[in-house]
Amino acid sequence: MAFDEIFQPLQFRNLVLKNRILRSNVSGRFDNYDGSGNQARINWETKFARGGAGAIVSSFVPVHLRGRIVPNYAMIDDDRHIPFWRELGCAVHEHDCKFIMQLSHSGRQRDVPGIEYTTGLSSTARPDPTHGFQCERMSTEQITEVVSAFAEGARRAREAGLDGVELHGANGYLITQFLSSAINDRDDEYGGSLENRARFVLEIVRAIRARVGDDFHLQMKISVHEHNDAIAFFGLGSSGNSAEESVQVCRWLEQAGVDAIHVSIGSFFPHPRNPAGVDLPAEELAKTYDTMISSGDRAFRNYLLFRSLPAFARRQWNDAAPQAQNIEGANLPDARRVKAAVSIPVICTGGFQTASVIASAIRRGDCDAVSIARPLIANNDLVRTFERGQDRPDRPCTYCNKCLVNVVENPLGCYEPARFPSREAMVAEIMSVFNPPPFA
Ligand SMILES: Cc1cc2nc3c(=O)[nH]c(=O)nc-3n(C[C@H](O)[C@H](O)[C@H](O)COP(=O)(O)O)c2cc1C
Ligand code: SF4
Repeated sequence: MAFDEIFQPLQFRNLVLKNRILRSNVSGRFDNYDGSGNQARINWETKFARGGAGAIVSSFVPVHLRGRIVPNYAMIDDDRHIPFWRELGCAVHEHDCKFIMQLSHSGRQRDVPGIEYTTGLSSTARPDPTHGFQCERMSTEQITEVVSAFAEGARRAREAGLDGVELHGANGYLITQFLSSAINDRDDEYGGSLENRARFVLEIVRAIRARVGDDFHLQMKISVHEHNDAIAFFGLGSSGNSAEESVQVCRWLEQAGVDAIHVSIGSFFPHPRNPAGVDLPAEELAKTYDTMISSGDRAFRNYLLFRSLPAFARRQWNDAAPQAQNIEGANLPDARRVKAAVSIPVICTGGFQTASVIASAIRRGDCDAVSIARPLIANNDLVRTFERGQDRPDRPCTYCNKCLVNVVENPLGCYEPARFPSREAMVAEIMSVFNPPPFA
């Protein structure tokens, strides 16, 4: 078969995938306000299982109500959610696809807090610099509570028959808020040195191992480079953790019992480098960002910027983003660094949609597998395209990031009209996630 490297099974310590392509995490507001899941999410995930992905790594699944980004994401904070995840897992398994749940806590980085908790938790008391969400510095009791929420989340995922869990340790959410030298300003045993900043995540890993045993797949998504100072307008200060520091964290994670590393980038989300786009869709962003105006102290300022000065916003963002021709595989150098330091498999995210590029990365030993988000949103059957020997889909993802800026208000899907014969066809494809309906 062409692109042999892609279609070799991938052996983790406790899990085997049929190929080297994982659907990367993509969150969308499909579920119910109270964190219970619904049929739309099952329909959504099944699209990628049917399309041939070896595994699906779920959306951001909060382990605690205070750790959600927006309402309407399915959660894993209570045993009552286990039957839903079991049903979802079974639907995905029917297509010989594995399902890995991303255990997550937003910390201070949220979009729409919802009515239960108006302030978030963090390693620091400083608000999130992008939208200006206020937060509370966590006490050691609160740290212990969240560590145990992660362990309970893993236990519930296992009881639901899922194939593993991923810690969302990347992109500025709570675990990053502890790991990052640019965010964590504590002077107790959870702050200061790298060893202290890593204490929180290592406690989570040990608590999960104690709760679910050693034979359940556990991986961690991490931002190897943080580029915390990417946007001057946000006044973001220092650049954050170096690659050397992140690689050391990966070594500790492996020693503590993590089975794979998922390489990402950026100390906040979204970030000009994640998901890296060809151009910030500022006008489209202004149409949905109004949802957030009352959420954070800086959100109204940002809204005015996107509305009134889209060219300025675009320049700030685009100057910090990779060149269009470098988007595919932009994180491979970081994956290579991690791979040289650990003996567990390394998964790389970032722009992949050309079979020969993926096959070469695996052959060179840069990574063991890739994860794909937007190109799979654009072409749910991308893996089938590769299976047929085609190097690139006929209508590739343009990296326009319109899916991303719509997600806070509208259903997740591809919003690039240029990829569809008509706007109606685009809307029909987006709305297909509601078919079959919940009470069919
Ligand atoms: C709409 C959207 C939602 C995302 N949600 C998540 C998420 O919940 N958790 C996460 O770790 N990454 C999330 N990401 C990042 C992707 O998983 C992926 O790592 C990133 O987009 C780069 O891959 P790509 O170039 O294949 O899109 C999201 C990306 C997009 C576009
Ligand atoms: S809207 Fe479509 S084409 Fe644009 S980045 Fe998202 S998936 Fe790709």
